Amino acid sequence: MEKILVERFRAQLNVADIPLSEHELMDAFRDFDVVLPTVSDRLPAAVFPPSPRVRFLGNFGVGFNHIDIDAARQAGIMVTNTPGVLTDCTADLAITLMLMVARRAGEGERQLRDGEWAGWCPTHMVGRKVSGKTLGIVGMGRIGRATARRARFGFGMNIVFYNRSLQHDEELRSLGALQFDTIEEVMAQADFVSLHCPGGAENKHIINAGRLATMRQEAFLINTARGDVVDEAALIDALGERRIAGAGLDVFASEPSVPDKLKSMSNVVLLPHLGSATEETRTAMGMKVVENLEAFLEGRDPPDRVA
Ligand code: DGY
Repeated sequence: MEKILVERFRAQLNVADIPLSEHELMDAFRDFDVVLPTVSDRLPAAVFPPSPRVRFLGNFGVGFNHIDIDAARQAGIMVTNTPGVLTDCTADLAITLMLMVARRAGEGERQLRDGEWAGWCPTHMVGRKVSGKTLGIVGMGRIGRATARRARFGFGMNIVFYNRSLQHDEELRSLGALQFDTIEEVMAQADFVSLHCPGGAENKHIINAGRLATMRQEAFLINTARGDVVDEAALIDALGERRIAGAGLDVFASEPSVPDKLKSMSNVVLLPHLGSATEETRTAMGMKVVENLEAFLEGRDPPDRVA
């Protein structure tokens, strides 16, 4: 993808592969026609100057809550994202987290590497079974559905879910998935609650202290969506007081910073935002960015336009 961007579009690459500061982004908006941010580049309204040169933001990622979409619209900047191509890998990771946290895989691996494993015994690292349990999904979009398919057909799990709009179709029928009107109802029934809704203002802290209190004590929370969907302080309290059994988290409110309290908890699995991190998926995301950019440059409507 880098080769295509440089040779075909004369792109200047952020070779350090680290997020740009607000100041650097403002410069980029002034100096370039096109900017291709990643989910780590924060683009609040303040970054959008009154008459920027930039006309196109091709986000390398499906989530775009890091971009102030209203500010982009007002500045007349087109924005695209990369949906679809990371569905499978993100769903795979949600299942990975469920298995890791329920089966204490991270904890066990750390113990073995630390040379503290004393051998098999009946009570050693006993976790919880995943197969046959109930999975509660919050947000039955592409990734929620892919996670539900894996859970239902791979692990014989029962699927309950919350989604803002009514979902009623053949796939959900084949999954035997039951939709509930409130997040609380889903959380109260589930052995695992897996979050698959977008981040941003409208979903900020939808998983708060009140809703965490509706979870069963033996239930686990899985988050591969966005960190700000969960009130992290409330989650830390619920975990610390063992009001829920554990959590598997791939995303955090202030990435890359992760609260020390979470790091100190044995009933939590923490991953560094790896949802889409496979060779195949990152390549496919890059190709989507290129496809959208080409359409924009040729005056066509890009397939994945969000603003
Ligand atoms: C996304 O695309 O939104 C993921 O979080 C990063 O790949």
